[in-house]
Amino acid sequence: MPGVGKTVLVTGASGLVGAALCPVLESRGHRVCRLSRGTGANEWDPARGHLGAEVLNGVEAVIHLAGENVAQRWTARVRQAIWESRVAGTELLVEALLAQETRPDFIMASGINYYGYAQSGAKDEGSASGDGFLASVCREWEGAAAPWSAAGGRVVQLRTGIVLSGKGGALAKMLPPFKLGLGGPIGNGRQKMSWISIGDLVSVYVSALEDAALVGPINAVAPKPVSGAVFARELGAALGRPAVLPTPALALRLAFGEMAKEVILSDLEIRPRVLEERGFKWAQPEIGEAFRAVL
Ligand SMILES: NC(=O)c1ccc[n+]([C@@H]2O[C@H](COP(=O)([O-])OP(=O)(O)OC[C@H]3O[C@@H](n4cnc5c(N)ncnc54)[C@H](OP(=O)(O)O)[C@@H]3O)[C@@H](O)[C@H]2O)c1
Repeated sequence: MPGVGKTVLVTGASGLVGAALCPVLESRGHRVCRLSRGTGANEWDPARGHLGAEVLNGVEAVIHLAGENVAQRWTARVRQAIWESRVAGTELLVEALLAQETRPDFIMASGINYYGYAQSGAKDEGSASGDGFLASVCREWEGAAAPWSAAGGRVVQLRTGIVLSGKGGALAKMLPPFKLGLGGPIGNGRQKMSWISIGDLVSVYVSALEDAALVGPINAVAPKPVSGAVFARELGAALGRPAVLPTPALALRLAFGEMAKEVILSDLEIRPRVLEERGFKWAQPEIGEAFRAVL
């Protein structure tokens, strides 16, 4: 689809997803306004309830990526920051949008953790939300945009799987031991991992922006989730290294507590039903080609 030249406000544009997405939006003819934390007229600070007066000027779509990184030990302070950056941040944006005449599209990140962390069969966008801290954050984060849908705005929530990029995120953290031949499956390797390459995730955001038929929750994952054992084997193969040394689940739980249970050891088989029905074409539907593309 050709670029349609929208003025797009991107929150969290400096992060892993935003840094890959913004140049692609610009190459398609969109004008990108990057929103970062600060106290100026063109900045925001969700923790302080600050949104600069000029931030929404001329904006035709918002892509809301900002959020405290979840891959850290969840102290009380970190839990508060994870919640506040997402829920209070979305409330702040929606409140400001509601005070305007125009109705920009609102495309927001969410996570497959919406469905919980422990598998009970394959899930698609119609499945119920699950248990755990991140599931409750995702429910409230998505719910914070509900007043915008109620006011007639188009809202899209991209429930994102494990993003595969060589530049950051989960994969970049795994690479050092794998490159030394010291990698292997996490835990027993039987857990399902629902992933997406960074390139395909960027394409999903572009589709969400340019295809007005896309509305509501969308699972942003590749069509073929894999077991932890296959994930490790294919990563080792892409690097030309053995990948047989497992990381014990107990060690991860001791080091990272609840975060290990809900994120690193999560067992989620998520299906991208909406994207498939819409005819979305993945450039990397298979995990092996995704590793080769991003590394
Ligand atoms: N990467 C993944 O595997 C993955 C998986 C599922 C869901 N997601 C979701 O997708 C979104 C983008 O992911 P990402 O990997 O690009 O995230 P990221 O690299 O951690 O970047 C997020 C950006 O959010 C802003 N931010 C960080 N802490 C914040 C805070 N306490 N309050 C307000 N803003 C804060 C920062 O931008 P500034 O410093 O410029 O303000 C940061 O660059 C996130 O909401 C994430 O939860 C990602």
